[in-house]
Amino acid sequence: GQAYPWHGDKQQGITTPRPAVGMLVAFDVLARDRDGLEQLLRTLSERIAFLTQGGSYEQRDPRYPPVDSGILGPTIDPDGLTITLSVGASLFDERFGLADVKPRQLERMTAFPNDALDAARCHGDISLQFCANSEGTTIHALRDIIKNTPGLLMVRWKQEGSVPVMAPRPDGETESARNFLGFRDGTANPPADDRTLMQQLVWVDRSNDEPAWAHNGSYQAVRLIRNFVERWDRTPLQEQEAIFGRRRDSGSPMHGGVEHDLPQYAGDPDGSVTPLDSHIRLANPRTHGSERNLILRRPFNYSNGVEANGQLDMGLLFIAYQADLQAGFITVQKRLDGEPLEEYIKPIGGGYFFTLPGVQAGDYLGSGML
Ligand code: HEM
Repeated sequence: GQAYPWHGDKQQGITTPRPAVGMLVAFDVLARDRDGLEQLLRTLSERIAFLTQGGSYEQRDPRYPPVDSGILGPTIDPDGLTITLSVGASLFDERFGLADVKPRQLERMTAFPNDALDAARCHGDISLQFCANSEGTTIHALRDIIKNTPGLLMVRWKQEGSVPVMAPRPDGETESARNFLGFRDGTANPPADDRTLMQQLVWVDRSNDEPAWAHNGSYQAVRLIRNFVERWDRTPLQEQEAIFGRRRDSGSPMHGGVEHDLPQYAGDPDGSVTPLDSHIRLANPRTHGSERNLILRRPFNYSNGVEANGQLDMGLLFIAYQADLQAGFITVQKRLDGEPLEEYIKPIGGGYFFTLPGVQAGDYLGSGML
């Protein structure tokens, strides 16, 4: 399987193509001082380097516990694994004396009107986003990291998800995967392989009012959004399409065409074709200036089990990246507040994190802020 380079000015897992499996794990840091935090960041860097590049574990005297869980066998295949390390606002509290270097917009996520946040599935000092081609790889990596950070790190919450990887069609078009509400998701995403655009939208640089160490990092907005799928499946198709502002089967705009045709709002000022309160028109009104609010979405679908009332616990592990959290996720979510889709969704967890810049040879993730 593919190995993504470990050294670079930016971390992997953001503009990297999204593979089939994703997992977001938030942790509390148990280290008590800056030395402990440095030890943690060094260990995480060393484990991420090994896990994403692959290799063999050294055999050990069988009188001791084995070095790893063994679930992938003795040799680790990279399997397209990326592990992306981000930090929450709480890491910059009094414990480590880092208040002065906090990314300017990093704050604790506050509830939006439709949220019913479960404290046990919110926030964290650190988030690790694991993405790979198969679930065994992400689980193995998480267990390796937990095993190697005793006394330094504790899991706070975790959410796994998956998404079908779409092969290009014979005509070269690539259709977007569907979410659990049956619609294609990712259609209007800014293209992650456009480096200039990503530099503007996703990566912090000199154009942002941020500490120098944070350049080449990004804001990560995570939301666990339950979908009320039983109710959705009893909703008329025309209502579903009006709620999103796209056709369900093709993913095209309401006026037809193919998935990647741009929606036309200019000749539709009163929303008789694409409703003004549809998800896509609120999220991106495509008016002059609204291009400042573009975000890079990289979500996964989740299916957890069953609620006490017999309803399926399914939804979207929403993950979005942007250089400017206020202009990005927060502005877009405020525009979406009150949207008709809210009858079918309930955000129950998540948090805001800052994805650290990448790492150079001999260095470790986060060295710039210590
Ligand atoms: C577009 C679904 C939550 C921001 C879309 C589309 C779908 C969709 C089907 C149209 C296809 C596409 O362009 O990807 C959902 C579902 C959600 C959800 C099911 C919750 C369960 C959110 C949230 C945000 C968001 C929380 C950000 C605050 C956007 C944006 C677009 C979009 C920016 C693109 C609009 C455009 O440029 O035309 N979403 N979404 N979505 N969504 Fe969501």
